[in-house]
Amino acid sequence: MSLYDPIARLYDAETRSYLDDLGFYLEMARRTGGPLLDAMCGSGRLLIPLAEQGYAVTGCDLSPAMLELAQARAAAAGVAPQVTLVAGDLCRVSLPEQQFSLAFVAINSFMHLERTRDQLAALATLHHALQADGVLILDLLNPDPITIVQDDNRLLVDKTFTLDGQQVLKLVASSSDPASQISQMTYIYDVQGEHAPPRRSLIQFALRWVHRYELEHLLHRAGFALRAVYGSYDLDEYTSTSERLIALAVPQRS
Ligand SMILES: C[S@@+](CC[C@H](N)C(=O)[O-])C[C@H]1O[C@@H](n2cnc3c(N)ncnc32)[C@H](O)[C@@H]1O
Repeated sequence: MSLYDPIARLYDAETRSYLDDLGFYLEMARRTGGPLLDAMCGSGRLLIPLAEQGYAVTGCDLSPAMLELAQARAAAAGVAPQVTLVAGDLCRVSLPEQQFSLAFVAINSFMHLERTRDQLAALATLHHALQADGVLILDLLNPDPITIVQDDNRLLVDKTFTLDGQQVLKLVASSSDPASQISQMTYIYDVQGEHAPPRRSLIQFALRWVHRYELEHLLHRAGFALRAVYGSYDLDEYTSTSERLIALAVPQRS
């Protein structure tokens, strides 16, 4: 079972309406033309609206439960013929060669890759899948050194949302180690029953931060050239206080 399987429906309900980054990907899709590769696509948060705009989109994810939700959403939206879903680990999955004009790893998903060798293996998969003139986008959290040292594993209320009419309370704890660049995350979801105690789901995972020049070196080792770094989905300049660290890179072919 993969990490996200037990919380796939909760993740989908929690994030479905988060579309702050959609305009950015629509613009990048318009510039590159498609087909698109949504690597670590989850339940299709971006993949479905991109397919609804007429793009052919392939999604790849480790979690069969997430992909099942994406498939159901594609069918419900009437875009299943444009959508291809591939189950597998981005570090070793087999994707068609030089197929895609745009490949992206959205909202922190690349941070699931803890080890440098996994990051490089995933970048090799993406390099192999991109057309010679294709574009890669990696969207990472910009690591804030002050927040990171204050991270003390306290369990805090993150948000509430509803799933099938039931109220869900999400609690988050994180503890971070600047030396290893790892945050240990705990997500707890309490689904409130009407006349019963809440049902609890819990996942724990590590997120590896990547700094700006580390990212540039990683991309270079994987055969990409960094073209731009943005600090927001509005393409603001990247600064130390930016919320996002968004890299736009292109394959270097020999
Ligand atoms: C935070 S979710 C983001 C989903 C989606 N990108 C979005 O924007 O909503 C991270 C996703 O990455 C997937 N994932 C984690 N490690 C992976 C790997 N090595 N290969 C493929 N998918 C992976 C998880 O299964 C999960 O669906």
